[in-house]
Amino acid sequence: MKVMPLLGALVLLGVIANMALGFASEAGYASLVMVHMGIGYLGLLLVLVAAVMGWQRRGKVPTRNILAMTVVLVLAIVQVYLGSQLLESSSQTLLLAHEANAFLLLAGVLVTAALTARRQAAPKP
Ligand code: HEM
Repeated sequence: MKVMPLLGALVLLGVIANMALGFASEAGYASLVMVHMGIGYLGLLLVLVAAVMGWQRRGKVPTRNILAMTVVLVLAIVQVYLGSQLLESSSQTLLLAHEANAFLLLAGVLVTAALTARRQAAPKP
């Protein structure tokens, strides 16, 4: 099995699950925050692995795919940072920034997944 599409699928599922958990814990299910944090940190690790693998294989992996993965990595770092700040303060601005960044992250992961899928589907020389 190819590692990159598997990592991408896990990250996409994780972002969707974490958005659902984030909204649910904000709606009162506070016990979900620990699971939410766990998925967030694990997701960051997976994105880091994917981006490092992409950079190591530059020349074989198209530059736009590597750039897309790097943008997702930066968004994931920002998301974890905003999340950790939210644990200390319940500022509405912080919560909104964390929510907005979640949608950016979702868009970034979808674009990266589409680019990866297109590369996998392309005929091999
Ligand atoms: C993939 C990563 C993540 C995504 C997609 C995500 C998404 C979300 C969303 C959509 C919300 C609800 C915001 C709202 O209702 O306006 C939320 C809330 C929250 N998130 Fe995250 N989050 C992620 C990672 C993290 C991490 C790593 C932490 C902690 C270190 C964290 C801490 C929080 C906290 C404390 C809340 C508020 C929950 C509450 O008030 O009960 N998040 N998140």
